[in-house]
Amino acid sequence: MSLTLESDRTAQTSTPIHPVLAERFSPRAYDPSIPVDEVKLTAALEAARWSPSAANTQPWRFIVARRGTPEFDAIVANLMGFNQVWAGNAGVLVVGLAARTNEQGEPMRWAQYDLGQAFAHLSVQAHHDGLHVHQMGGFLADGLRTAFEIDDRFEPISVAAIGVLGDIDDLPENTRERERAPRTRLPLDELLIVNA
Ligand SMILES: Cc1cc2nc3c(=O)[nH]c(=O)nc-3n(C[C@H](O)[C@H](O)[C@H](O)COP(=O)(O)O)c2cc1C
Repeated sequence: MSLTLESDRTAQTSTPIHPVLAERFSPRAYDPSIPVDEVKLTAALEAARWSPSAANTQPWRFIVARRGTPEFDAIVANLMGFNQVWAGNAGVLVVGLAARTNEQGEPMRWAQYDLGQAFAHLSVQAHHDGLHVHQMGGFLADGLRTAFEIDDRFEPISVAAIGVLGDIDDLPENTRERERAPRTRLPLDELLIVNA
């Protein structure tokens, strides 16, 4: 069933793109009984580490927590309602932090852009290795700041669930419907405000 779900969710493109990109999607059904393979997790984090950033400033930091640890529970406790329903089944939660300023106190204009790109690379590597990733903006940043005593120079921007795909039928009914809804995108023409 999972295979059918995955193939149904493949991106429809006007010309073929890399299968890892076409097949990547953000599930909410994770198998809580399967931990994330440590080598695959390290590979995903390495992919993030090696992503490009403005002037190679690498303004990203990560809080990585495996299911079953107090750190994992602290992240789940700071997810917003709907995310708490499903994300706790993932094997790993990763909080992404972006620097607000450099060590001289100067603003880092591209830090959030760079963090997003690092998570994009992490997602692609993880998907290539048979894992799934679901990023979230629905979390309490202040709660995470307190729980992990995050330095003021860094801001929690997103949380990513990483895990092994589970059974959609184990989700509550309203979440199941969202999982079955078709994946959509704006047409390419609408995105290219200039295409000379
Ligand atoms: C920055 C960001 C924040 C997101 N926040 C949430 C969230 O709080 N809860 C959720 O279920 N999905 C969240 N998503 C997942 C998006 O809804 C999802 O990526 C989008 O619908 C496209 O689906 P796809 O990733 O399967 O292509 C977020 C994604 C990103 C990149």
